[in-house]
Amino acid sequence: MIDMDILELRREMQKRREIIKANMKKIKYKIAVMSGKGGVGKTTVAVNLAVSLAKTEPTKPVRVALLDADIDCPNVNKFMGIEEHLSVKNEKIIPIKKYGIDVVSFASLQEREDQPIIWRGPMLSKAIMQLLEQVEWGKLDYLVIDLPPGTSDSSLTIMQELVPDGIIVVTTPTDVAVVDAKKSVNMAKKLKIPVLGIIENMSGEIFGTGGGEKAAADIGVKFLGRLKLDAGIARCAEKKKPFVLESFESAEEFKHIVNTIVKEVLK
Ligand SMILES: Nc1ncnc2c1ncn2[C@@H]1O[C@H](COP(=O)(O)OP(=O)(O)OP(=O)(O)O)[C@@H](O)[C@H]1O
Ligand SMILES: [Mg+2]
Repeated sequence: MIDMDILELRREMQKRREIIKANMKKIKYKIAVMSGKGGVGKTTVAVNLAVSLAKTEPTKPVRVALLDADIDCPNVNKFMGIEEHLSVKNEKIIPIKKYGIDVVSFASLQEREDQPIIWRGPMLSKAIMQLLEQVEWGKLDYLVIDLPPGTSDSSLTIMQELVPDGIIVVTTPTDVAVVDAKKSVNMAKKLKIPVLGIIENMSGEIFGTGGGEKAAADIGVKFLGRLKLDAGIARCAEKKKPFVLESFESAEEFKHIVNTIVKEVLK
């Protein structure tokens, strides 16, 4: 009897995987932003990466979507200044358009942003799979995924069900963050997902500099570049506007990182 249930469950999972695959088949590149430690700047990188990718070709539109897969603490909407809820059309969830990209976040399903979403284990995986199945992604050049910190259940579900084409690991220059970044790289390697490279964030006098580069060299992955610890970047998050659209200097710094990803890593 139990064996039957397990078989049934497996068949059900396989069916859902196929639905997700079919629903996401018109997406050219899926890039997940990951980190071992919380608060190192994943959401900052994911939001600015998505907005920058949409501007990489001056002559033709580049279609980009951003998925906030941090189910416990979805922050993308806050950084993008999105307050509306996701709408549903013909049983499909329609992403919210902002700053030239499509945005999908669990926060847009919440009634109140200060209420925690408490989903455990299987429920959490189910919620993620349902979202992946039901969103009307359409034809996209890039889908950027903002993952929760660490190598938790929801990160694993996203990695297995969505199967990113590559991950970007964000770290701060400190030793502890660098050790954690190595964990993320190893998780991706175990799941056979290519690591596009490491970004060092909050680089400068306070946390130091060079830790991300050293980690990349130690693990044998590409160092994509660094972002300074900068009051302008922190202010942009508070102002709900991606810094690439606001601060010229940080935007230039970031453009270099994005160009490296597009030209050297993805093509
Ligand atoms: N380079 C930077 N300079 C200044 N402030 C920054 C920088 N990068 C990120 N921050 C700020 O640090 C805080 C944490 O950043 P962010 O939310 O992007 O990290 P995270 O890794 O996504 O966090 P979590 O693990 O909670 O999801 C935010 O307030 C953000 O504005
Ligand atoms: Mg975040």
